Parts: sequence; structure tokens; C-alpha cells
Amino acid sequence: MSREGTSVELEKRRAARVPRGPFNSTPLFASRAKGAVIVDVNGREYIDFAGGIGVMNVGHCHPKVVAAVREQAGEFTHTCFHVVMYECYHQLAERLARLTPGGFEKMGMWLSTGAEAVENAVKAARYYTGKAGIICLDHAFHGRTLLGLSLTAKAMPYKRGFGPFAPEIYRIPAPYCYRCPLSLDYPGCGTACADLLERFLKTQLAPEDAAAFMAEPVLGEGGFITPPPDYFDKTADICRRYGILFIADEIQSGFGRTGKMFAMEHYGAVPDMVTVGKSIAGGLPLSGVIGRREVLNAPHVGGLGGTYGGNPISLRAALAVLEIFEEEDLLARAEELGKVMRRRFEAWAERYEVIGEVRGLGPMLGLELVKDRRSKEPGADEAGKVAAWSLEKGLIVLTCGTYGNVVRVLVPLVIEEEQLARGLEILEEAVSQALK
Ligand SMILES: Cc1ncc(COP(=O)(O)O)c(C=O)c1O
Repeated sequence: MSREGTSVELEKRRAARVPRGPFNSTPLFASRAKGAVIVDVNGREYIDFAGGIGVMNVGHCHPKVVAAVREQAGEFTHTCFHVVMYECYHQLAERLARLTPGGFEKMGMWLSTGAEAVENAVKAARYYTGKAGIICLDHAFHGRTLLGLSLTAKAMPYKRGFGPFAPEIYRIPAPYCYRCPLSLDYPGCGTACADLLERFLKTQLAPEDAAAFMAEPVLGEGGFITPPPDYFDKTADICRRYGILFIADEIQSGFGRTGKMFAMEHYGAVPDMVTVGKSIAGGLPLSGVIGRREVLNAPHVGGLGGTYGGNPISLRAALAVLEIFEEEDLLARAEELGKVMRRRFEAWAERYEVIGEVRGLGPMLGLELVKDRRSKEPGADEAGKVAAWSLEKGLIVLTCGTYGNVVRVLVPLVIEEEQLARGLEILEEAVSQALK
């Protein structure tokens, strides 16, 4: 069978036996991947600006990650941490206790998916505070489990048809400056959206009933919405004053994605708990919660856990990821990438009317596309065209946003200069095509 025939045949079999719910952003089937390049079963190479949705910050098949995985798989693959323990579990907790913001005593626990990390952070917050209410943001994404979905704010495709949702979830407007919920302009507004949290505690939910405020430092699926610099200082301060825990969901924004290990470092605010996932383990399934010792240690023995939580292969991969960050000075590379891409994107914004806003932190950058700059009518079709055109030319890039009109870059931080140049060239061509 020809190589093209192989992928047609695979597509047919996929459609026959796999439900449509687990979506596919591209029709590609992978055969191998390395660094920032994926090769499909037809032998065609694609530059990867998606990173498996923000998972591949250290690149595909980094030799150190592969070696760690091989070594651990040769020793043992699973004992269940709750049955027979292993050192890498607390080793990673020790490392991340040092790396996450906040000088206080911390603990960490491990799970498999981001949604589970969110669930466990909420469980610990409720147990510790004895309160139920969780406040989250409009445009948030916190996962697809029932609680994650309840905290998530996008009807299609995430919520529609999947209710009823979990109770005691409350939502306040997001600091989405481009589409300000208060119709104000930054900085003249004085970040009035942060004060909405305090107002909410007066009008909707008494602080005595609020366990935690959970937010993404950069709202990922919501459209790379980047809160103003003082937003989290203000909201963290409100949380502190009212005895509410502040949880930063760094699942997409962590591990160098924004040029710092954790995006919250850009804001200087200190969360009580941080949820991590995605790029933590270089492509292996791992997530976790790191936070104040007294909070995470509050639930009784047996109250937290799971069969696969903190799989030793994933943990060893995560320890390798941290070594890679140090040895390759990946944070500096991320910062540089961010600067290069932002310069390019801002130049495009001057040339192409379809770009309403360029935003993000470091190399976590998005282009919000609009049909018309004055009306700001979302350009979802245009974003779809950019992704499709890019794919045709050999670049994988994803869209996001409540309105589906944001083109986002989650490129592996190890991308080579030539690949980056080619990827940006294709993306620019695609943006210019979207105007037609
Ligand atoms: C900020 C954030 N939280 C939670 C999740 C859920 O992670 P997972 O898909 O691993 O359950 C995601 C996934 O995109 C995310 O971006």
C-alpha cells in the first residue's frame, strides 16, 4: 500500500471504531517525532507549534527523557505508590517545593492528568478550610472531569449536554482587557476587574463559604487571555484578607512556557497551591499539586490518591525535564523565543488587519483574529483558515479561545533556529491568506 494509502486506511479504521467525541485537530497519524518536528505515517515532516497541546516544552523524544524512561521501565513500571513507595515520588515533591513561588513549607502529590490535579487541589482546599465554594473565572479551562468541567467556561464543545454540573462553583468576569467585561481601558481602569472578586464576596458568596479562588495565570484554552500585571497581586490580597485560598492552575502555563518556570512569577503573587501537568514530564502522563504543607496535609490518610497517581516512569521523566531546564538554560531560551516571536507578531499586526491583538507572556503567545478591528467581531473562520493553511504547508498550529478565534503558539522551547524561521514564515503566509 502507498504511504498516502496508509493514512487513508488508518482514518477509515479510526472512524469505524473510535467515537467522534475524542476530537482530532489534524488528520495526521504520527510515525515519529524529535525536538520540534513530527513525521507522519506518509513520511512528511511537520514543524510542531502545538507541542501536543503544551506538553512538549523540552521537545519530542528528548534523549534525557527517553533514557530516564528506559531506565525506569527496566527497573519497575508500577507498584502503586499506595502499596510500595519509591523515592522519585518525594524527590520531585522536594524539587518543586523549591521551584514554585512562596517561601513557606510545602508538600506535593502526584496524579496523571491535569483535571485530576485540579480535583485534588479543590478537595484539599475544601477539607482544610471546611468551606465548599470555589470561585473561578469566566473563559477558564480546568479540565474535562465533572468538577473540571464545572469550573470550565465554554459551552461548546466542552459543556453542552454533559450537565448537571458540580455545585458550589462560582464564576466572576475575567481580566480580558481586549474585551473588557466592564468596558474600561487599562491602565486607566485601575484593574477594576480585580475588585469584582471583593464585590462578589459581598453580594454573592460570603467569605465564610468560599474555600478558594482558582485561576490560570494566562487563560489558555480561553484564548491566551493575559491578565494585567497587578491583577493577581490584587486578587491574592483579597483572598488573604478574607481567608480564601488562592490556587494557580499552571497546567498549561508552567514549566518554562512563559519564559519563567511558572507564569505566576511574572506577577509576583504567591498562590497557596499550584496545579501542574502537561510539560512537567516531557510527554509522559503526570500532574500534581504543590502547596502549603498545612493545606495539602489536612485531608486524612486515604482521602487522596489513585492507582496510577505518580507513576514512576513519569516521575523519572519529570526529574529529567528539570535537569534539561538547568543544563540547556531553557528558561533563557524561552525568554529569547518569546522576544523574537513577539517582535514578528507585532510587525504582522501592523500589516494584517485580521489581527485584533497580540498577547501572552514570553513564548506563550496568541493572535486574536477579528473580522473587523472596530467591531472586534471574532474571526473564528479566519483562525480555522490559518490552521488549515499552515498544515498544508507543513506547520501544526492550534486555535483556542471562547470564540475560537485565537491562533496560539505552544512551540517546543528547543526548536532550532531554521525550524523557527520556517514555521514563522508559514504562519505569516497563513495569516495573510486568512484575509482573502
Ligand atoms: C489550565 C488547564 N488546566 C487543566 C487542564 C486539564 O488537563 P488534562 O487535559 O491533562 O486533564 C488543562 C488542559 O488543557 C489546562 O490547560
